[in-house]
Order: sequence, then structure tokens, then C-alpha cells
Amino acid sequence: MKLPAAALSAALAACTLSAAPAFADEALAKAKNCTGCHVLDQKRVGPAFKDIAARYAKQPGAVDKLIGKVLNGSVCEWSVVPMPPNKYHVNESEARELVQWILSTNPDGSGWAKAGTPVGCTPKLN
Ligand code: HEC
Repeated sequence: MKLPAAALSAALAACTLSAAPAFADEALAKAKNCTGCHVLDQKRVGPAFKDIAARYAKQPGAVDKLIGKVLNGSVCEWSVVPMPPNKYHVNESEARELVQWILSTNPDGSGWAKAGTPVGCTPKLN
């Protein structure tokens, strides 16, 4: 059997193209130091990106809400540990790109379990 080289390289090109946007936004998260506190699938200082995606999956208005949180900071959504404002090194369109990428990491919301009541905060986990 003969494998057409053109078909193979077309398949590879398609793969590379479809993976590109995710890499681009992961690179942005790294460049903006989000990855100093967040990783994709484990809690660090902040919640895992996949848990954020799961929690807000299919919630109308989530993108705009989270853009505000990224820019202005957040506390008591997940725990008493605050996220400082990022607006000094992240502009609104970068924040939008980052939030859309974060939400795309778990679009069907699988695996989301309420993490319990954050001590010292009014619980907001939903
Ligand atoms: C100094 C550590 C730190 C850095 C840097 C950081 N975060 Fe966070 N992030 C946190 C913590 C802690 C929380 C949980 C805050 C809370 O409980 O309200 C959080 C929460 C979030 C949330 C969820 C907010 C909510 O309302 O549920 C998003 C989205 C987010 N971060 C995105 C980002 C992005 C994008 C960046 C980079 C521009 C970033 N974070 C940088 C620590 C950080």
C-alpha cells in the first residue's frame, strides 16, 4: 500500500493549525505571569484553569465577569487567598483572550465539584 505524502503533510498541517490558538493563549498566560499562580489542571496559589472553566461553563455573562476579575483582582470566590489586580500589565483585550482560552479548557464543565465553604468568606461557590 502506498501512502500519499501529500495527504500526510496536509493532515499534519491541519493539526498544527488547529493547535495554534491554544498555544498562543497559553503563551500569553505565561508571558503575563498568570502561570505563576495557576496551572491547567491543579490547584496552586489560585484554582486550576480547568476548574475555573468547569465552574463557569455555560454561565451567561461569565466572560465579562471574569475579565473584570482578572483586571481588578478577586477574593472569596474560591478561598480567602486573593488574586491581585493584573490591570497594570494586562489590557482588556488581553484579559478577554485569556478568559476565553481558560473557559475553552473545559467547555462542558465536567469534573466540577463544589470545593466547600471558603473559611472567613461568604461562600460564593456555585
Ligand atoms: C498572585 C497569584 C495570582 C496571579 C499572578 C494570577 N492569579 Fe488568577 N487567581 C488567583 C487566586 C488566589 C484566585 C482565587 C480568587 C478568589 O477566591 O476570588 C484567582 C482566580 C482567578 C480567576 C477566577 C475568578 C473568579 O471570579 O472565579 C480567573 C479567571 C483568573 N484567576 C485568571 C487569571 C489570569 C488570566 C491571570 C494572569 C493575567 C491570573 N489569574 C493571575 C491567583 C493569581
